[in-house]
Amino acid sequence: MKFFIDTANLAQIKEAQDLGVLDGVTTNPSLMAKEGISGAENVKAHYKAICDIVDGDVSAEVIATEYEAMIKEGEELAAIDSKIVVKIPMIKDGVKALRYFSNKGIKTNCTLIFSAGQALMAAKAGATYVSPFIGRLDDVSTDGLALIESIRVIFDNYDFGTEILAASVRHPMHIIECAQIGADVMTGPLSAMEALLKHPLTDIGLAKFLEDHAKANG
Ligand code: G3P
Repeated sequence: MKFFIDTANLAQIKEAQDLGVLDGVTTNPSLMAKEGISGAENVKAHYKAICDIVDGDVSAEVIATEYEAMIKEGEELAAIDSKIVVKIPMIKDGVKALRYFSNKGIKTNCTLIFSAGQALMAAKAGATYVSPFIGRLDDVSTDGLALIESIRVIFDNYDFGTEILAASVRHPMHIIECAQIGADVMTGPLSAMEALLKHPLTDIGLAKFLEDHAKANG
């Protein structure tokens, strides 16, 4: 399973990259705003800075919601760097835009997926990734992981090449369960990735090893 970090924070992206487990980055307009990035040129420069840190795909979301405007904005984003994946919302014009970019060989990430039907539409339109938001489904008492399972079955039934990018990941169990189900990618915060490597018995065991070594060696 690929690990993407879901942030526009350069320090956190660098930290995840340095950990050696990072396969890409996802951003969205809220995450860009959180970093205080505004204005078309600043936004483009920030995406370029992210691309310069990571080795993998970097999702950059269009703000436009009308087909022609999405195409123009998406082409501008794709021109920033070959790592850019154009992130498109799951709306009717977005589906058309997915097909356009797919035909042009430009990678896409269809975002705001909350149902299997939406994922199927995005895959049919040639999306590179679909992003089901599992945390936000859990927030409204709906089983986000069940949606990942359902999309996995559908994509496998028909050998869709579209990758399932489990988004809105909130904690390490989301990551583990997504891996068990067979999500192709997960995107989440650095804290969720780092939580995977922690276990109290590891800390206790290491402290004992170091203590015994110190005793034996003075
Ligand atoms: O980037 C899309 C998605 O991962 C958002 O997550 O935590 O805002 O629900 P969250």
